[in-house]
Order: sequence, then C-alpha cells, then structure tokens
Amino acid sequence: MKVLILQASPRAKGNTAWMAEVYKNAAEAAGHEVTLVNVAKKKIAGCLACEYCHGKGQGACIQKDDMQELYPLMAEAEVLVLAAPIYYFTLNAQIQLPIDRMYCVMGPAKLQKMALLVSSHSPGVYTGALAGYHDLCRFWHAEDTGVVTAKAEEQKTPETQAKIEELVKKL
Ligand SMILES: Cc1cc2nc3c(=O)[nH]c(=O)nc-3n(C[C@H](O)[C@H](O)[C@H](O)COP(=O)(O)O)c2cc1C
Repeated sequence: MKVLILQASPRAKGNTAWMAEVYKNAAEAAGHEVTLVNVAKKKIAGCLACEYCHGKGQGACIQKDDMQELYPLMAEAEVLVLAAPIYYFTLNAQIQLPIDRMYCVMGPAKLQKMALLVSSHSPGVYTGALAGYHDLCRFWHAEDTGVVTAKAEEQKTPETQAKIEELVKKL
C-alpha cells in the first residue's frame, strides 16, 4: 500500500521521529511504499476559512506554501500515519495544520487506513488526542489500524518498537 507518514515533532532525533522511523522501516520491510514527511520543518499556514477553495478555487487553496508539496502525497496516500507529540493535552499544532488545510479537498481521496503514533512526557494525557484522531478516521472513512502511545519511560524501547511493528501488520 502507499503509506504517508506525517511526523510533526520539530525535534529531528526525538521520540516521535523515532516512532515514525520504526513504522517506516517495518512498513518498507513488509513491501509497502512509504513516504515520511517532517511537517514541523515545513511552512504550512493555518486555514483562512475564506472558502476560496469551495468557490472560485475549485478545490485549490488560495494559500501557496509547503502544502503544495503535501497535496499530491495526500491525494495518493492509501494509509495515513499521524506521528505527533502531545503539547498541552492534545496533538501538537504542527500536525493539525496540514489536517486543517485538507478542507479544500475535504479529505485524502484514496485513503483506506490510518494509524496514530504519539509521544508525551506523562501518562494519562491522551484523551483529547485520541478523541480527535478517532473522529478524523470516521470523517475520512478510514479504518483505524491502531494507536501507539509512548510516555517518557516507554520511549525508544523494544516494547514500543514491537507495538509499532504490530500496527504495520494491520496494513
Ligand atoms: C510546548 C510543549 C507542551 C507539552 N505538553 C505536554 C503535555 O501536556 N503533557 C505531556 O505529557 N507532555 C508534554 N510535553 C512533552 C512532550 O510531549 C514530550 O517530551 C514528547 O516526548 C516530545 O516528543 P519529541 O521527542 O518527539 O519532540 C510538552 C512539550 C512541549 C514542548
């Protein structure tokens, strides 16, 4: 399957980046075609809610920024993996921006499955993130293949690696 991983931590060697890399390696080993994008390094503005896309724009966003690179990848993705740290009890802003900007096309056209990889310092901080993720799966008609969370002591461990590898088996 065509897998797109959006990795949203600005820390290139951090915990979320590690989780995304584990997923990528396992998915490639299983024969999937994987693209990994660090969206935290991209210049992606928030949606203006100007409705240009639903009128004159005919599905195109009026803002021309790094989303132009992501739109074709999103359009081809059969599997979308969101990898993000928790900031203030929810997924960080860097992952939400590209999701919001899909408003112009309403969703990834070929999407079948999704997964979520989340890291945080503390336990018990995932309620908002999980609710939003599950709602998004439903809204985009994608099967939820599962979620792996990693609080501080679970980061970069063989156990977390094994959980991520289990998710990949659901593709
Ligand atoms: C702005 C900010 C807000 C954060 N808020 C939380 C939080 O609410 N709960 C928590 O457990 N960790 C919080 N953290 C810690 C990160 O979620 C945690 O260190 C995570 O592993 C970072 O992932 P990374 O290594 O991929 O950057 C916060 C970190 C930052 C920078």
